[in-house]
Amino acid sequence: MQVEEEKKHAKSPNDAVKAIKSFTSIVPDVAIVLGSGVSALSELTDSVTISFQDIFGVSPTVAGHAGSVSVGKFPLNKNVNVAVFRGRFHVYEGHDWSVVTLPTKVIHAWGVKKLIVTNAAGGINPTFNVGDLMLLTGFRDFISENARKDIIEQLKKSPENCENELCKRILNASQKLSEQNKEFRPIAQGVYAGFTGPSYESLAEIAVALKLRCDAVGMSTVPELLTAKELNLSAAAISVITNVWKEDVSIHGHEEVLEASKAASKRLDMLFSNLLASEK
Ligand code: HPA
Repeated sequence: MQVEEEKKHAKSPNDAVKAIKSFTSIVPDVAIVLGSGVSALSELTDSVTISFQDIFGVSPTVAGHAGSVSVGKFPLNKNVNVAVFRGRFHVYEGHDWSVVTLPTKVIHAWGVKKLIVTNAAGGINPTFNVGDLMLLTGFRDFISENARKDIIEQLKKSPENCENELCKRILNASQKLSEQNKEFRPIAQGVYAGFTGPSYESLAEIAVALKLRCDAVGMSTVPELLTAKELNLSAAAISVITNVWKEDVSIHGHEEVLEASKAASKRLDMLFSNLLASEK
């Protein structure tokens, strides 16, 4: 669909909430956005699943992104209601910024108080391994039109800080899990650089991100975090490191990313379960 055509079909945040409410009266305590091939919280109790098309009036187009939202109770603590967004809209798919940021606006308009976004990302911190989880302490925006208008200005700035109470709770949950279970590698922390894609980063982009002391690179999440900040919505983000950029290693493509996401998703699921079990 052409951008202008799609903008006409995209619902306003309030209309999207109305659409959701025609399927469920639940207002989630937490919304979780799952990125490429990342699966977690697959079993909610009393859940309904709604397509992105039905909610937003438009659909994403990337493999591994189903484009649906499941709303239900967290099975291990039924006081907690959760919405799991499978998939998202990317700038590289040709979506307008208003569409890319729409799910975050809808989550806010719905009355959800906490948002956790996940993504598949390439590690550039040499201490990272494939399958690591990284909590974002900050991010760099090379995605929004605003940022791309003046890249030099972006390079001069410090990363946008995104640490908050929710991040602390994620770190505590990770700490507890690693004490209980030797197999659970604690979550790493770092700065995420968001590029537009659609191809993985060029060597030049990686060199810039390394110079700016970023730890991971990807093509999403920045729009959600910028929008959450504007709306005063409490948000945290976790990267699944699906490949590590080293001078002699190149990535084989989307399939490899999906494979690595699957293995790390198990640990992410444990992390979410621990976090949600103590939510209320
Ligand atoms: N770069 C950008 N996006 C990604 C990568 C990467 O290396 N790996 C998974 N998603």
